[in-house]
Amino acid sequence: MKLNNGIKIKYLGHSTFLFHTVEGKSLIIDPWIETNPACPDSARDIDALDMLLITHGHSDHTGDVISLAKKFKPQIACNFELSLWLGKKGVQNVNGMNKGGNITLEGLKVTMVNAFHSSSVVEGDSVLYGGEPCGYVVQFEDGFKVYHAGDTCIFGDMELIGELYRPDLALLPIGDLFTMGPEEASHACRLLDVKHVIPMHYGTFPPLTGTPERLSELTRDLGVEVLALKPGETLD
Ligand code: NI
Ligand code: MN
Repeated sequence: MKLNNGIKIKYLGHSTFLFHTVEGKSLIIDPWIETNPACPDSARDIDALDMLLITHGHSDHTGDVISLAKKFKPQIACNFELSLWLGKKGVQNVNGMNKGGNITLEGLKVTMVNAFHSSSVVEGDSVLYGGEPCGYVVQFEDGFKVYHAGDTCIFGDMELIGELYRPDLALLPIGDLFTMGPEEASHACRLLDVKHVIPMHYGTFPPLTGTPERLSELTRDLGVEVLALKPGETLD
């Protein structure tokens, strides 16, 4: 599959994406690799990492944050509460931020945007507050913009995200139960006015029942191209 812009986007399954930029930088959003049942063994080896973004504290989005952070010392962006938690774990280069804020990491402009979900971190017998969940708009060196919605329901201000940031590509959860399903995600495409979508957060476990085929059917009239990457597959 092609986007014709030189950025490589590798889907590692669930909500985990590895990007290689035109300048040779690598970025992961929501790293869950080692214990991610959707991630093929052949995709588990990460050989470089410059930036790491985290949408919320749930383990299916943070499973490999600490190990990757200690191995590669990437610049990390996450909500303020998760930045405190990571700091206490000895993780370096953590940039705590909050929704509406922008930060430039290794030449990429990162905007933290809203998401409606929950966020927590489980430590032993305790469930810790994980701050508020978020999504990100990442602007690559050549201006290409990707919106990773994180885990979220649909919300009306996706229209504002579309107006303000004009994402070229949206990564949208479609699995249902914990996030939007395909019906809601199809309407999200309408609000965002986005023409390329990679579905995520589906099929990892049986209850995540939404399918890319259903999203394609529901967005045909919008001219949306649903790029259903298989885990391990790369879009370039
Ligand atoms: Ni979650
Ligand atoms: Mn999740």
